[in-house]
Formats: sequence, C-alpha cells, structure tokens
Amino acid sequence: MSAAAEWQHWPQSWYVVARADAVPAGRVISGHLGGHAWVLYRGQDGVLRASDAFCPHMGAHLRTATVAGDTLVCALHACHIHPQTSPPPKPEHAGCHLSARAWPCAEQFGLIWLHPPADKTAPLPFADAADSAHWLNGGPQTIAADWRAMICNGFDLAHMRAVHQREVVGKPVFERLPEGGLRMTYTTRVLAKGGWSSWLMKRLSGGHIHLVHTCIGSSILVHSRVGKMQTLGLFALLPQDAPGTAPETRRTLAFAAVGLPRGTRGYRIKLYLVRALYLAFLRKDFVVVEGMRLQLAHIDDPGVQAVADYQGCLKAMEPPP
Ligand code: FES
Ligand SMILES: [Fe+2]
Repeated sequence: MSAAAEWQHWPQSWYVVARADAVPAGRVISGHLGGHAWVLYRGQDGVLRASDAFCPHMGAHLRTATVAGDTLVCALHACHIHPQTSPPPKPEHAGCHLSARAWPCAEQFGLIWLHPPADKTAPLPFADAADSAHWLNGGPQTIAADWRAMICNGFDLAHMRAVHQREVVGKPVFERLPEGGLRMTYTTRVLAKGGWSSWLMKRLSGGHIHLVHTCIGSSILVHSRVGKMQTLGLFALLPQDAPGTAPETRRTLAFAAVGLPRGTRGYRIKLYLVRALYLAFLRKDFVVVEGMRLQLAHIDDPGVQAVADYQGCLKAMEPPP
C-alpha cells in the first residue's frame, strides 16, 4: 500500500480553530479535534488557555463556563478549573479548585492554533514567517469539501492551466523539511483569459511568478515572488466532521492570512490588495473541489504525489474514548 493510501482524516498536528479577534478576554469557545472535545478561552490576563471540554468534577461541558481571572468557572457547581499539565497552583479563590488536562494553544498570524494533548507536541508551524511579515487575515469560510482534496489542490501542478490559466515552467523541486513538512518550489507563467486577477498578476509580474508552497499538517504557506513584490499566503484547514465521515460528505473550515515582508512601504493598503488577489485565486479552487470524492490511485502529478506521500507519513490522532 502506498503512503498516500494512509492519509489520515485527522492527523496529529496543529490546527487553526479560530481568528484571534473572535476570542477577546473572557470569551469561551469550544469544538473538537478528531472527536476530542476542547474548550478554549482568553483569561483576563490576555493569555489563551485550552483544556478538555468536560468538567473534571461531574462532567458538565465547559462551553457554558465563565472566565474568572486565569481560570474557568464551571456553570454547574462553580468549581474553578485550571487547565494544566502539573498539579493546580495554590488557590487564589476560596472553594473548589480542580485541574483539567491542558491543550497546547498559541496565537500566530492573528489566528488561534490548537494541538491535541500528546507526549510530544510538534513546533508551531511557520513561526519564522510569522515574525518576518505584516499580516492580514481572512475567513473563516466553510467549504463543502474534504480538506485532503484541498491540500492536494494546493500542490496539483496539472490543474494550474485549467483552473488558474497558468502554466508551470520547468521542473518543480521538492524538499522534506527536517522539522516535518513538505516544500515545493516552482515557477508559473500567467496565461491570458484568467479574469481581472490574472490580468493584474500579468501586469505586476511581467509574466512569471516564482512560488514556494510549504505544507505542514493541514496548513499551507505560499511564498510568491511577483516581479519585485514578495507576498505570503497562509491557508489553514480545519476538518469539520467526526472521524470516519465519508470523504465526499466532509466539510472544511478554511482560514487565511496574507503577509508582506516587514518594512514594506504602505503595507496596510497593499495587504488588502494581496488578500483580494489570493481570495480570487482560491475561489476558483473551491468551486471545483466541493463534493469531490478524492481518489489518488492513478494520479501521477508530482505535486499531488509528493504531498500525499508526506501526509501518509503523519500519525493519526488517537480515537476518542
Ligand atoms: S460539574 Fe463542574 S463543578 Fe460540578
Ligand atoms: Fe488551485
């Protein structure tokens, strides 16, 4: 069996679960990763914390909890819940204090990243890019598609002509990253008849666009060089369905962020233009991947093969109890 056949619906990795501005201090959000329920909140100290979703006292779902200082207060019996991996700290408040298993979470690109608890948590993806650029985020948008089909699309060289009116020039170069991940470096030429965005890209680029796509888990970072202008696009996919859901009925929540290198003059205005260009590009993909029944058995596109092989090596998340 090829590695691609092992591509998991829910690999063990970081996932973007929300925009950072959707979680102000005192807000609690909840969801699941691979069927494992979580809650996440921002304490009054501004720090994000996440834990298992069920109260360690009697099991109430903590989505109805309130935030007090850096803890959650369960709505059922008002115990203070401290998400952590070590014993609870000395209580600051009288009453019941319990610890809940913490989940690693972080804020990057204006997005909130969450990792299921594991013996070993991988480093947060794309940290260098996050520090090197000004960012503007977008989304989320629900797409009626399997996230695996969307990742394939991000590396599918053969679809560039039909969907994006671009032609791949020369041979792409593939590289596995030591920290985990796949990088594809290639060049495209903008063809005629791609609508306003292709017309503009052609004017800006003089015809050629140099691209580097890096896939880590369910996210892709695209670095593109168009003439003298360098841009970054981050696309993070959050599967929406329980493990085992049929691929053609899966849905995916897509988050995006675009970046310009630090020091770019007039970056605020330019970021809006870059976001419009990336979203115009992506809308063409969303239309064709919706409802797709992904099959990779006879696909010889080198980009799709490489990303499917990389994904096939990722460990599945433990099944929920
Ligand atoms: S169930 Fe949460 S405090 Fe009792
Ligand atoms: Fe595409």
